[in-house]
Amino acid sequence: MQQTYRFLTADEAASYVNHGDIVGFSGFTPAGCPKEVPTAIAKRAEAFHAEGKEFKIGMYTGASTGDSLDGALARANAILFRTPYQSNKDLRDALNKERAPYFDMHLSSIAPSLRFGFMPKPKFAIIEVCDITPDGELILTTGVGISPTIAHLADHIIVEWNHKHPKALRGFHDIFEPEDPPHRKPMTLLKPSDRMGNTALKVDPSKILCIVETYRDDEVGGFSPTDEVTDKIGQNVANFLVEEIKSGKIPFEFLPIQSGVGNIANAVMASLGTNPDIPTFEMYTEVIQDSVIGLLKTGKIRFASGCSLTITTPILQEIYENIEFYRDKLILRPQEMSNSPELARRLGLITINTALEADIFGNINSTHVMGSKMMNGIGGSADFTRSAYISIFTTPSTAKKGKISAIVPMVTHVDQNEHSVNILITEHGVADLRGKSPIQRAEEIIENCVAPEYKQLLHDYLELGGCCHTPQNLSACFGMHRQFAKTGNMLDTNWNDYLDKLP
Ligand code: COA
Repeated sequence: MQQTYRFLTADEAASYVNHGDIVGFSGFTPAGCPKEVPTAIAKRAEAFHAEGKEFKIGMYTGASTGDSLDGALARANAILFRTPYQSNKDLRDALNKERAPYFDMHLSSIAPSLRFGFMPKPKFAIIEVCDITPDGELILTTGVGISPTIAHLADHIIVEWNHKHPKALRGFHDIFEPEDPPHRKPMTLLKPSDRMGNTALKVDPSKILCIVETYRDDEVGGFSPTDEVTDKIGQNVANFLVEEIKSGKIPFEFLPIQSGVGNIANAVMASLGTNPDIPTFEMYTEVIQDSVIGLLKTGKIRFASGCSLTITTPILQEIYENIEFYRDKLILRPQEMSNSPELARRLGLITINTALEADIFGNINSTHVMGSKMMNGIGGSADFTRSAYISIFTTPSTAKKGKISAIVPMVTHVDQNEHSVNILITEHGVADLRGKSPIQRAEEIIENCVAPEYKQLLHDYLELGGCCHTPQNLSACFGMHRQFAKTGNMLDTNWNDYLDKLP
């Protein structure tokens, strides 16, 4: 069917969205997210609120988004609910103050949970494209996210046609939506560069409510420059992998890498790139960050499959100027594929993600500061970790100028448990947790990963007489956190203050 589309302004498009509506947004991280219509919806919410009327929408995104989406709607107090991962300062503030009900989900689970009816289906899908055909072919931009599923489930599709992204992006996507059980077939990829879907997202053109044209950069922030600590973590990861290859535990032709988000992940990729003993490799990951593009140019990375190009504007511009160089080196897929546990296990991924805190027994908290305050969300870290060939977690050994030890007796929130975490790496060294009992893991972590000034404190904790297989002491296990709440420094911890006094 050939369709003639209506072109509207962002405000006109936003006028169709009403209080209580549920909206799915394209993109993954700020890459590929709509920008104009979400900001116009936020303005509409503010106008309603000024008249004393309610206006909030339910929000499904791929992951974090840009400030003109999450930031604008959070500041407008327009969020009925929001899932999954986020990293916007104003949204973080809103959800921690209960102004934006937020539930954190594995990124691979969002689209199937919508299809299965576990969550209400979206009324609108707002999708950024670089091209559109009269028969309903949408060519996505830098992030795919949950676009196929929201486009298929929504009653109406609002298209943001962002001319900043060239039409030549056609061909960089592998768009596929699996059948649902019991009729699901295997995802057939055998290597990161294999394809199984279409280059375009095909939608029913009669569902396209309107097109809003725009010319906007993705709102991808830069990274902090690497420092002594992140450099050392990166080197420790690279040296560990080199030793694993030498010992034959990792095949000598190497395995695809999945790397997490943030400053530490960016520094780790830089170290893998400069270590001459790391062979050239492929990435099967969710977020392709700046460092990956540098390594594609040098040839250290041969191919990168992801869900988004979360690339700063100057580097994205460089990609667009040399787009044919990247055509056979990059592919973008829906998060249901990029984060598929089935594919992670089959491809044998080496997964490298970041912890806020780890405990001496190998449990990881990546999301909740002091057990309560949401940082970003679990993202895809568990999609990958649980199905990895080798799962690695990295963290600086301390935070807040040494007043917090990132390694504690018991994490205050568990995102990955001891059964899924193989390796913990800080700037001080590597703890190999494979094949070790809880006490052996604790000794390995304290010896190799803990900051020198915290080692005795953690050794002393193990001596407190917690019993059995995993010697936790339930009265003292959060002593270091409680001490930080009291004096602002975990180093002041005296275990006697936290032990139950016997009558
Ligand atoms: N207690 C309190 N605060 C802590 C802390 C701890 N144990 N450890 C770190 N922090 C603080 C840091 O001080 C810093 O605070 P600031 O922003 O005020 O300076 C902040 O947390 C971020 O730390 P940083 O060292 O800059 O880490 P990062 O940018 O590499 O991000 C995570 C780390 C864990 C927040 C991030 O990787 C994340 O959200 N991970 C979960 C999702 C995920 O893994 N996705 C990838 C899957 S593909």
